[in-house]
This record gives sequence, structure tokens and C-alpha cells, in this order.
Amino acid sequence: MSQNSRTLMTGAVAALALLLVGLAAFSFSGLYNVAADAPHAGVTKALIAAIRERSIESRSGDVVVPPLSNHMIADGAAHYDAMCTACHLAPGMAENEMRPGMNPKPPVLWRFKHGDPREQFWVIKHGIKMSGMPAWGMTHSDEEIWDMVAFLQKLPLLSPAQYKAVVASGGEHHDHDHMDMH
Ligand code: HEC
Repeated sequence: MSQNSRTLMTGAVAALALLLVGLAAFSFSGLYNVAADAPHAGVTKALIAAIRERSIESRSGDVVVPPLSNHMIADGAAHYDAMCTACHLAPGMAENEMRPGMNPKPPVLWRFKHGDPREQFWVIKHGIKMSGMPAWGMTHSDEEIWDMVAFLQKLPLLSPAQYKAVVASGGEHHDHDHMDMH
């Protein structure tokens, strides 16, 4: 190794060590504000969004979508109404007292045009770390999650009255005691 490349190596190692020490010092200093009401810096927000999108895209790619039939929609609606509306609202539902304080704030899903069913399935099953979005796959079968995906595909088209009707039609065959790990 020449003198020059040795100097370069030493410099690079020193810079890396300094970076790690700085990172550790920052982490333990308490300088980072974890308060939910302190907005992320623009660059942090962009970075988190990019990581989330690429992570979901690359993991949901080989999810195989089953036929999403009409009878699944009512069951999915009942599940959605019981488990998701506190965070994601529904047609005819006003803002609540929890959502404005959440960071990230959960998207209002009925305002979305139909999302990719593979990504919806993956997100509902596995959740999203450090966001409040739970992994429903811990307590629900793939079949139940596909019911919710089938419903989400219809959700943006529903009026408040149609939403109520489809929830009521699904509620008949469910009790929402989800602690039984059926
Ligand atoms: C405690 C709050 C909470 C509950 C309850 C909740 N979610 Fe979420 N959900 C979130 C948050 C927050 C995000 C956004 C995460 C992010 O941006 O990193 C999210 C994201 C999502 C997304 C991705 C939306 C997109 O960006 O394309 C879907 C789909 C979703 N949730 C479906 C559901 C379903 C279905 C249920 C009910 C079974 C549910 N969520 C229950 C908080 C919640």
C-alpha cells in the first residue's frame, strides 16, 4: 500500500469513527424530540416516506390476490367498522379527538382512490412500525384480511347511507370478540 492510500484509509476510518461517536452522542443526549406534536423536519419526513414506500412495494410484490367477490365485502365492512374507523374514519363520520394528535396522522381511507390490493393486504397483515398502524395478522386470518381488502376496494365509492347498510349486512355473522384468535 502506498503512503498516499494509507493516509486516505486512515482518514476514512477516522471520519467513520467520528460519525459513529457523534451519532451515539446525539442519541444519548436527549436532543431529539420524540413528542408527537413536534412535526418532523422536511428531510426526515421525506426519508421516512421513501423507506415506507420502498419497503411495502418490495415486500408486497409477490402477494397473490385471490378473487375478491361481493360476499367478502360485507364481512370486511363489519371488521372495518369495528376495528379501523377510530383511526381511519368512514363516510359520514366526523373528525374525532384522537386523530389530530397522531403522528403520522392516519390517512382517511375513503378519500383514497382504490389502492393496490397487494399493498393493502401486506400493510393490514403486518402493520407499520412506529406509526400506530397495527399488524392485524397477529389476530386475524388471511381470509379475514382479504375480506377487508375487498371492502377497501369499494369504500371510496360509498355514500354514508351505503356505508351503514353494508356494515349492517356484514355485522350479522360476526361477533367482534377478537381475543379468541379464531
Ligand atoms: C391506532 C390507529 C390505527 C388503527 C386502529 C388502524 N390503522 Fe391503518 N394506519 C394507521 C396509520 C397511522 C397509518 C399510516 C402509517 C404511515 O403513514 O406510516 C395507517 C395506514 C394504513 C394503510 C395504508 C394506507 C396507504 O398509505 O396506502 C391501510 C391500508 C390501513 N392503514 C388499513 C387499516 C385497516 C383495514 C384497519 C383496521 C383493521 C386499520 N388500518 C386500523 C393507523 C391505524
